[in-house]
Amino acid sequence: MKIVVIGGTGLIGSKSVAILRQGGHEVVAASPKSGINTITGEGLKAAVAGAQVVIDLANSPSFEDQAVLEFFEISGRNLIASEAAAGVRHHVALSIVGIDRTDNGYFRAKLAQEKLIETSGIPYTIIRSTQFLEFLGGIADSSAVGNMMRLPPVLFQPIAADDVAAIVAHVALAAPRRGIVEIAGPERAPFNEIVARYLKAIGDPRQVARDPEARYWGGRVEERSLVPLGEARLGRIGFDEWLRRAKAGV
Ligand SMILES: NC(=O)c1ccc[n+]([C@@H]2O[C@H](COP(=O)([O-])OP(=O)(O)OC[C@H]3O[C@@H](n4cnc5c(N)ncnc54)[C@H](OP(=O)(O)O)[C@@H]3O)[C@@H](O)[C@H]2O)c1
Repeated sequence: MKIVVIGGTGLIGSKSVAILRQGGHEVVAASPKSGINTITGEGLKAAVAGAQVVIDLANSPSFEDQAVLEFFEISGRNLIASEAAAGVRHHVALSIVGIDRTDNGYFRAKLAQEKLIETSGIPYTIIRSTQFLEFLGGIADSSAVGNMMRLPPVLFQPIAADDVAAIVAHVALAAPRRGIVEIAGPERAPFNEIVARYLKAIGDPRQVARDPEARYWGGRVEERSLVPLGEARLGRIGFDEWLRRAKAGV
């Protein structure tokens, strides 16, 4: 089966491409670096021609509110138009748990991406994931003021990129759900505690303060804003195992 992975060079994209190729599929790892650009349309028609499945794992180069909204809207529209023309039978996209329960610019852009998919007429599955464990370092850096970061004690359930990619590949090969499936890591704990545990484990001396008023990317969050509320598929790799693998470089 021909499968196009948009953002096929990214964190989740490159892992998903490898899994699908191991399964014997013809996989196009599409990204600007390989001459396929969902914003300009470069190379898109040829890449999608003959594909049964398109998996959108692209991310915006800028996280500024307006830039990220424009990225997901323009990219989504161009992608849908090329998929409709090619008769694609399953569109899979990776979104985020809780984007309709807390407000920030990035989440608004992901909601806009989801709306385009839901109204496209192309059979689809949206996978809403919790934050990637690989994202913990970025969260720490963006929240730090000097040696201190203030984080809210809301529940957090990060998932390893390897688990995300395995689920993405599995979903892409199954029938379209015409809806949303949620995925999360196997462990749930307060956000501030997970980040503190991560910093300690990597020997980072920065301190984490528990602050119920602290925001998440500028948006107010409550106890269960960032975790699945209903049924969710859980990854298998917990924090300690993920850290062991990361340190070993596997
Ligand atoms: N971070 C999280 O915790 C989290 C949680 C849930 C869901 N997600 C979602 O997961 C998805 C994948 O995230 P990631 O961290 O794997 O992304 P990433 O590592 O930042 O990779 C982004 C990919 O998008 C490609 N790209 C950028 N502009 C493009 C364009 N104009 N046309 C085609 N491809 C383009 C990049 O290609 P180049 O290499 O050529 O630049 C790269 O392959 C995102 O949609 C994100 O919203 C993230």
